[in-house]
Amino acid sequence: MPSSDALGAPASGSSRTSEAGAGWVCGSPGRFEELVPPRTRRLFWWRPSVLWRSRNDLVARVFGDPTDDTRRAWVAALAERGTPAAFTLQRSAEEFSFVLMGDTGEGDRSQYAVVPALERVGAGTDFMVIASDVIYPTGDSGDYPEKFFRPYRSYPGPIFAVPGNHDWYDGLRGFVRVFCDLRTDHGAASFRGPFAWLARLLWRTAREVPDAVLDEARAEHRGEPGQRAVQPGPYWAIDTPDLRIVGIDTGITGDLDREQGAWLRGVSAGPKPKLLVTGKPLIVDDQHRPGPIEGGGTVDEIVRDPVNNYVAAIGGDIHNYQRYPVRVGGRTIQYVVAGGGGAFMHATHVIRRTTAVDEDDFRCYPLRGDSLSRYAKLYGHWTRMPGLFDLTPREATAAIRHRLGIRPARDYDDEDRPSRRALLVAALLGVPRGRRRRPRFLRLPVRRVPQWFRSELADWDSPPFFKSLLRLDVTAGELRIRCFGVSGCGDHEANPPLEDEVRVPLVWGTTR
Ligand SMILES: [Fe+2]
Repeated sequence: MPSSDALGAPASGSSRTSEAGAGWVCGSPGRFEELVPPRTRRLFWWRPSVLWRSRNDLVARVFGDPTDDTRRAWVAALAERGTPAAFTLQRSAEEFSFVLMGDTGEGDRSQYAVVPALERVGAGTDFMVIASDVIYPTGDSGDYPEKFFRPYRSYPGPIFAVPGNHDWYDGLRGFVRVFCDLRTDHGAASFRGPFAWLARLLWRTAREVPDAVLDEARAEHRGEPGQRAVQPGPYWAIDTPDLRIVGIDTGITGDLDREQGAWLRGVSAGPKPKLLVTGKPLIVDDQHRPGPIEGGGTVDEIVRDPVNNYVAAIGGDIHNYQRYPVRVGGRTIQYVVAGGGGAFMHATHVIRRTTAVDEDDFRCYPLRGDSLSRYAKLYGHWTRMPGLFDLTPREATAAIRHRLGIRPARDYDDEDRPSRRALLVAALLGVPRGRRRRPRFLRLPVRRVPQWFRSELADWDSPPFFKSLLRLDVTAGELRIRCFGVSGCGDHEANPPLEDEVRVPLVWGTTR
């Protein structure tokens, strides 16, 4: 395996050390543009057809999430095919590496901007994991050629995935076909209750795509023997000598069906160190979301039980990077959000001064000041009032320091007091005060608004993109997790900046 120690140190430094490191100033343009296929259409979330195609999210939230029953049907079909009930792949190598990223599949420039970094960061890795939302907007089989097979054609290893809510909007048909190679159909949504008929009426059924279309795309783009992979199911485990990686399927609304819960308890038991990969992070935006399991209990209870010896839980769904090293008993569990793999960016400047962990121990990418500056520029452009909204990274960072009462990682000058305008824009765009959750007065849409609205605002197609991907290296007794930033700048493509790193000891636990 080639050494990856030289990674992560471009001349500009990272976003934590300079504006150039964040990509605000590009030394040279990125070559990702050449990778984007001609006539690629940007994914416009506000387009009525996209909204209508994505309606299953709303249907699931109003009428009840039908994914538990549908997942049971898929799992039964996989068992019938002969998949062992453990849903576990075995890998014998003690030392290995893999790439992990979430929320990839928009198929446009923001997804392709990550590809050169993937080629660099992923060099020498054994496999890749996509944590949620492989395909936007609706997980359709027909979108896999352009939003999965083609973008990752140069990644030489196998790719595994856990589905996100968007992958479920077609009943998981595309996901199961591509990742589990199951070609029968069990994706019909089964609703219950007096309005089940209405839910069925509103529920969008994905259009059928001939298997030959997917076979051709796979053969054309990812047809090498080393790229082939069949994972056991929508949830799975990869067992290695010193670490078990456990991937769960959190459906549309984030909970687990009873059978998956029982499987998770079983596969989590024992002293071997474990890493959870989930479609919904357990701590995100400084909020704890434990992940309910049908019939009782939560995913996080399983993760925190010392007998199960989890060392980290990584989830996609929110499109940025966050890390919370939480002390649980005498151990530290790394709770990570890793959804910066290609889709539009979720703001980090709405994260209050953290309470889940001490603010000094919290890490995020983009930095809150960069996030605020990016959104402020977008609002300036969108409202045609740049004079009111535009904030330089320096102005935005000063406003963040003032409102949150934190010392930003990339600070400029302690005497640099924010202007009243900067403070007003920060408040309007949702920067909390200290540890309060939300500003008290009216805020403009940044976070809690319909996805299509904030996505459209937050989806841009030029550097800095603020995408990210993780490289995880397992060596004797240690798991090293590194987050690399993706700005879209040429020099960062050759050497993506290291934005965060943590080394986790892999110590076997004791049995109760
Ligand atoms: Fe997503």
